[in-house]
Formats: sequence, structure tokens, C-alpha cells
Amino acid sequence: MKNPEKRMKNIYNLHDFELAARRHLPRPIFGYISNAAEDLTTLKSNRRAFEDYSFLPRVLVDVSKVSIDTEIFGTRYAAPFGIAPMGISALSAYCGDKVQASAAAAADVPMILSGSSLIPMEEIAGPHGTDWFQAYLPGGLEEIKKLINRVEKAGFKKLVITVDFPVPPNNDNNKRCGFSSPLRPSIRLAVDALVKPRWLFGTFFRTVINSGIPHFENNYSTRGISVISKDVNRDFSGRSHLSWEHLSYVRKLWPGSLIVKGILHPDDAARARDLGVDGIIVSNHGGRQLDGSVSALRALPAVVAEVGDLPVLVDSGFRRGSDVIKALALGARFVFIGRPFNYAASCAGEAGVAHAISLLKEEVTRNMALLGVTSIDQLEAAHLVRAQAR
Ligand code: FNR
Repeated sequence: MKNPEKRMKNIYNLHDFELAARRHLPRPIFGYISNAAEDLTTLKSNRRAFEDYSFLPRVLVDVSKVSIDTEIFGTRYAAPFGIAPMGISALSAYCGDKVQASAAAAADVPMILSGSSLIPMEEIAGPHGTDWFQAYLPGGLEEIKKLINRVEKAGFKKLVITVDFPVPPNNDNNKRCGFSSPLRPSIRLAVDALVKPRWLFGTFFRTVINSGIPHFENNYSTRGISVISKDVNRDFSGRSHLSWEHLSYVRKLWPGSLIVKGILHPDDAARARDLGVDGIIVSNHGGRQLDGSVSALRALPAVVAEVGDLPVLVDSGFRRGSDVIKALALGARFVFIGRPFNYAASCAGEAGVAHAISLLKEEVTRNMALLGVTSIDQLEAAHLVRAQAR
């Protein structure tokens, strides 16, 4: 990519990537990333929830050395945050999943490869990529087994199963911006792409010339459908019957760390723990599933109280170092962030993702110093004051 530095001009925090991506991406693709379900109630409350807590800083602490290293599932990372799984990332950025994974590996933070990604998982697994894979379980036991075998064979060590997608969410906002999965060729789509020539040539045509029309590569043990298709529908219907027995089946098959993503209720967290999972991601999918769901930060304390012995991770709405610190003070062990890294990859490839990671690392480090703590394990609820109920 030419001049990634130029593209990073005026990007001072994670929010800034959104505006840059809005300028760069065709309307349906930007809409797919930025959209949330229905009236955006959960999307907005994910952000507002951080105002529920204020910091209570300590002063005259020697903060000349602040370490933000964090260990999770036996691996030490350079920061307590990572990149959440996002499907179709290789349509918004050239080799999107690869650039996210390699920037994360270089910065020593985790990146979770989405099961709805467009690059074969075998090309992303490894020390310069990632060892975290996210799956949406296929409907049948035999298909589940084959997929798990493939993930294990590819070399992944941490398997994240997303459980908040029993049926697709209402996609009225996607329809409005012209996005569908797969994308339907139309005049409107062509016009949307033509007015964004840098994306059209630098991402889309470059992808098609080098590797053909992208397909959903990793939802099953074999290649799935094309991401652009006139008459094929993505079939989600086979998932709505999935239950705890299926998760239990995965636990029996998968030898590595098993993490369940999309839990909000403490009783579900307890059930997952009793079934033998190694960690939980408290998440409402960035407000993209059930609109009106509780924000992840508000759901977090009850889950930690219920299963505090288990690593509790969290995502949905995190943008600032201070957001990350608040969740850690409430007992989360790790934080994942989605959209800003996707925007960063779209606008400036690997350099963009590296810039986003570095900005967030700086914010976490600086704000910890301002709070008067020098390592992640010092963070506790006493660093926060609960705002008065409004
Ligand atoms: C997602 N998310 C997601 N989650 C998942 O488990 N598998 C997936 O394939 C996807 N795909 C996906 C695509 C896009 C474009 C977005 C924005 C999100 C949800 C994601 O992992 C995470 O839960 C949210 O993105 C977190 O919220 P923020 O940080 O984007 O606000």
C-alpha cells in the first residue's frame, strides 16, 4: 500500500478511523461494518455504559515504569486487548484478515480469526498470524467434528465458539445501505463501488486478480459460497436448534482452550463453566444481534461475580484505553475490540492496524499512570466510583 503514513494523518485515536473508513469504503461495505441491529439501542448503550463508572485516581505513586503485559490461556501478550473476530474483513481491506493477524502478531496482541472469513484459515494460522479461531457451529454433529478437526490440523490453539447467533438479526439497516451476504450484483452496487476507486482497484480488483472472487472459506470443513452471488442465499437455518449439548460435544473434541463468546447472563456463564470451558467472552456482538440487549460492560460484574474463577473476557463498544481499564478493574481479564481495527485495515492495511494498536497501547499505559497503577493486576473495583443512577 502506498503512503500508509499519509493515510494515518489526523488519526489520533480509535474513533478517528471510522471517519477515514467512511470516506474510503463503498456505502454497503462501510454500512456492513458500522451497522448494528434495528434502532441501535444496544450500540449506543455499549458506549454510554462507560459513563456509569468514574475513576478514583491515587497520587504520588511512582509510575515511571508502567507495564501492561497480560497473560491469558498460557500466553503472555504485550497488552490486555486484542482484535475481535470479524467476518468478511478481506472485502473491506486487501487480505484484511491477514493484515489484521500479522499486525497483531508483530505487536504481540491476539487476533481472533472469524469463521466467516474469506481467506483459508490455513493461510492465517501460525506465529506470524494467529492461533485464535472463532467458529459458528454448523448444525450437524458430523459437520462440527470435521470443522474442529480442520481447525486443529491448521494449528489453532484457542477456539472461540460464538453462541449469540441462533438466527440472523433483523437486517433492515443492511438493506438500507445496499449490503447483503452474499452481495447481489446490481447497478446500484456497481455505482457504489465506482465512486470509491481506491477501494475498487486497491482492494476489490486486486483481490480478484490475485485470488479470484472471495468465498466464505472457514464456516465449514470445506469451502463455502461466493461472497458475490445473484441467486445463492447463505443458509443460517441449520443453527437454530443448537444447544448446550452441542457445546459439550465441542468440549469433548477440542483439546485446546475453549472460549464461549456472546454470553450476557450469569447463569449461562455458570453453565458454560460447569461444562468445562476455559473462558467466556461477555459480548452483545457489538450491538449487532438482539437490539435492546444489555451493554457488555453492564453485564460484566454479575458474570464475574458468578464465575470469577474462570477468565472472563469482554467486547462491545470499547474504544479508549480508559474503557479497557474500567473493564479490567471490574474483573475482566482481557478486552477485545472490533470495528476500529477493521476500519484501520481498510484505510491503511497492516500499517493502519499497527497504528491503531499502538494508539490504544499508549492510552492504556498513560491512563494507568494517571490512575496511579503500574501493572494490570493492581487494577480493582476500588479504582472506580459508580455514578449515581440517573
Ligand atoms: C463482527 N462480530 C463477529 N463476531 C463473531 O463472533 N464472528 C464474526 O464473524 C463476526 N463478524 C463481525 C463482523 C463485523 C463487521 C463486526 C463489526 C463485528 C462481532 C465482533 O466479534 C465483536 O463482538 C464486536 O465487533 C465488538 O464490538 P465493537 O468493538 O465493534 O464495538
